[in-house]
Amino acid sequence: MPPDSKMPGRSLLPASLVLVLVLAVSASVAEKVLQIPLLEVGGLWVKATHTATARVAGYLTSAPDLTSAWTYVRAAILVWLGYASWAFFWRPLNRVRKLGDVGYVAEGSFSTKETANFIQRRRKNGEDVPPFYPNGWFGLMESFCLKRGESQALHVLGMELVIYRGQNDRAYVLDPYCPHNGGHLGVGGRVVGNCIECPFHAWTFRGEDGKCVSIPYMDTSAKIPTNARVKSHITTELNGWIYLWHHAEGLEPTWSVPEVEEINSGQWTYRGRTEHHINCHIEEIPENGADLVHLGQVHGPVFAAGVDLRTMWSTFWSFAQHHWSAEWAQCPQPDGHIGVVKLKHGLAVFDRMFPMLDLDVTAKQIGPGIVYLYFESALGNGVYLQHVTPLGPMHQKVVHDIYVSRYILPPVAKFYMLGEALMVERDVMIWNNKQYMRRPLYVASKEDKLVKKHRDWYSQFYSRQDKPALRKDNTLDF
Ligand code: FES
Ligand SMILES: [Fe+2]
Repeated sequence: MPPDSKMPGRSLLPASLVLVLVLAVSASVAEKVLQIPLLEVGGLWVKATHTATARVAGYLTSAPDLTSAWTYVRAAILVWLGYASWAFFWRPLNRVRKLGDVGYVAEGSFSTKETANFIQRRRKNGEDVPPFYPNGWFGLMESFCLKRGESQALHVLGMELVIYRGQNDRAYVLDPYCPHNGGHLGVGGRVVGNCIECPFHAWTFRGEDGKCVSIPYMDTSAKIPTNARVKSHITTELNGWIYLWHHAEGLEPTWSVPEVEEINSGQWTYRGRTEHHINCHIEEIPENGADLVHLGQVHGPVFAAGVDLRTMWSTFWSFAQHHWSAEWAQCPQPDGHIGVVKLKHGLAVFDRMFPMLDLDVTAKQIGPGIVYLYFESALGNGVYLQHVTPLGPMHQKVVHDIYVSRYILPPVAKFYMLGEALMVERDVMIWNNKQYMRRPLYVASKEDKLVKKHRDWYSQFYSRQDKPALRKDNTLDF
């Protein structure tokens, strides 16, 4: 039984809480900013609502004049408004920000994207950068991105791959270049049963082991050569995600991706996603979870102040502030590959805290690129799934999906997702422009000690001999 369902009538709670919040904020704004008594504001609201309702009711109850073109124009507008309202409030969020969309400051007469390119090329990271592709499970894509019988080319972890879903609904990942004459299985390759057929001369490869099982034009007396095969990669699929195991030395998985029971049992519902492309070393992103000082600095100003670090301190938004407190610790063995961040969030408006906006978050960092952020709020519980996947050196794809209990209405869940995205975009501005420092200048403090502890924990995901590729001028090769 979901924990929320123990409380009958709780479905009324969110609406009441939102109403109380709106009234409280109205009261503060009215009294402190506009200096209008609350009763007067209330009266204006009631009057305006009454007039609007009467107008709509009158329009809906009057018989439509089918001979007038205006009737059809109005009907079309109403249909459009209905669709737009549904899309705005109910359709799951899908916010995608590619490289150069956020987190850069345009230089001179150059565009933000041009600036992003310059910064990518001229950034120096020194020789001592850890490997770009740590060892562990990485999220490739949400399950809904790959339909049965579909194949796609993939570029992740510096590798070219093909992913496809067989008729048995299983996702397979193979090296894409056909051993016959180099055709790319992910570009035009057809799924045949649980195999994939090369688009060039129709050699067919089995997903389980990458072996060629059919060469349609070969002499019937001949045997398929034993080296007619491609590498098959280790995958798993759960929590609505397809995962790939990566190990620089080719070792088998030493841990597995844990299940989020509420997702797989259907207790929590999908309400949206965000996708950010970021220009930094992968380790910078999870390290944020143990960096307590940055919470107040980067995430203190209220989310409405925007994602630009230069303008978010505007006094206009200073009436509201986020408050954070956090701790981070590594789990004991055999779960040493998991780190846990305990995070408490509060929002102060005119120095008054609003407990209904409190968020208690337990973020489980599972290996180098997966985080489950479980949250509890007055409106209900849920989880953000965060998947950080390096596509190339210093290029991370970060996807957040939100799943919530049924008591959180879709617009509220979308609001939570958007709030998280805006906070991430402030981090993106730091990550896109910073330098990876192997040895930061730590000072005596529990905060810097914790960052160091996180680095020690994360180092278990690197193979010693796995060196990043450097260009001759000692910069990273993009
Ligand atoms: S290149 Fe793939 S079948 Fe010929
Ligand atoms: Fe952050």
